Amino acid sequence: MSLFKKKDLIGLDIGTDSLKIAQMKKSSKGYGLVKAGLKHFPQGAIAEDKIIDRQSIIQAIKELVQEQKITAKDVATSISGRSVIVKRIKLPQMTEEELGESITYEAEQYIPFAINDVNLDFQIMNNARQKEEGQMDVLLVAVKKERIQDIVSIITEAGLIPSVVDIDVFALENQYELNYLKDMNNYVVLLDIGADTMNMNILWEGQTIFTRDASLGGNNYSKILQNKLGLDFTQTEKIKSGETVEGVTEEQIIPLRESFYEEIFSEIQRSFDYFRATADDTPLSKILLSGGTSKINAIDQVLAQHFEMEVEKSDPFKKIDINPNQFNTDWLAQVSPMMAIVVGLALRRVDDR
Ligand SMILES: Nc1ncnc2c1ncn2[C@@H]1O[C@H](COP(=O)(O)OP(=O)(O)OP(=O)(O)O)[C@@H](O)[C@H]1O
Ligand SMILES: [Mg+2]
Repeated sequence: MSLFKKKDLIGLDIGTDSLKIAQMKKSSKGYGLVKAGLKHFPQGAIAEDKIIDRQSIIQAIKELVQEQKITAKDVATSISGRSVIVKRIKLPQMTEEELGESITYEAEQYIPFAINDVNLDFQIMNNARQKEEGQMDVLLVAVKKERIQDIVSIITEAGLIPSVVDIDVFALENQYELNYLKDMNNYVVLLDIGADTMNMNILWEGQTIFTRDASLGGNNYSKILQNKLGLDFTQTEKIKSGETVEGVTEEQIIPLRESFYEEIFSEIQRSFDYFRATADDTPLSKILLSGGTSKINAIDQVLAQHFEMEVEKSDPFKKIDINPNQFNTDWLAQVSPMMAIVVGLALRRVDDR
């Protein structure tokens, strides 16, 4: 028995298109779902990785917490994009304590921001591919303080306690770890394609070996549809999800969807190229897809064909116990592609770093 009860934690993923919330409890079988919700932000509340309309975001958080009757206060949230740098570096062998003392000095040459403007964190990796005598692999993480302060103040103003500020790609990894068996022989690619951002985390033996965020997502497809066909937001959302819109034919849509796919292909290829520049040629065996844009019909097959590898839509609730009397399972299936990051966040413990 523990003297101090671990506090309940809620995962909160503040995306460009919507806010996601989730809460888990430890159960005899592993984890059980306690709460899950999603709420769309007003259009333009977040744009190009920037918080434009703070009040709308705070309001949406308050509303979703109330609608879901959530009483827990501690929040794990995450950030990604331009304010985050994740780099795998080689350093001389040293203890965690020694590294803690010298990390600022070591990081300086790898971080393109002023070192005083970032919060630094690191993890010594034990999954090095090419072990070199006297060296170790370190995952270096730098996040702009400004961005953390932004998120912390929003969560606080919404009446909650910002306990954990994580990174999107690590939350994805956390979700993968719970739901999938580690592949010990191949690189596995976690890929979340949202509205504005594409988060990639390449794993070796289930641990991060490479990450990259790109500013590309479903909004790029919407823009193409809006510009070429003169449609509004509601109409483009319909077309994206495969519904018909009066006056728009499938023949008109096909080339536009193709050109969106081209954008995605080249951005993914760019990430693979960066990765290959630092890695050996062990194959990338599989892409596990998440994010709302992974809901585009057959996008998994299109990617599989283009990159000649297995592509699977990931299921963040795969191993999570769900009470069908408490949750609308049709709704959960609808939103589950968008919930990968928030599930990873909800699995964090308050006393995690
Ligand atoms: N059925 C669907 N078919 C195609 N696209 C869809 C579908 N449902 C949602 N989307 C798209 O998914 C995107 C939203 O996905 P998601 O919720 O993962 O993004 P986000 O987390 O809010 O944003 P980001 O992570 O980029 O900041 C939107 O561009 C939306 O149009
Ligand atoms: Mg997202």
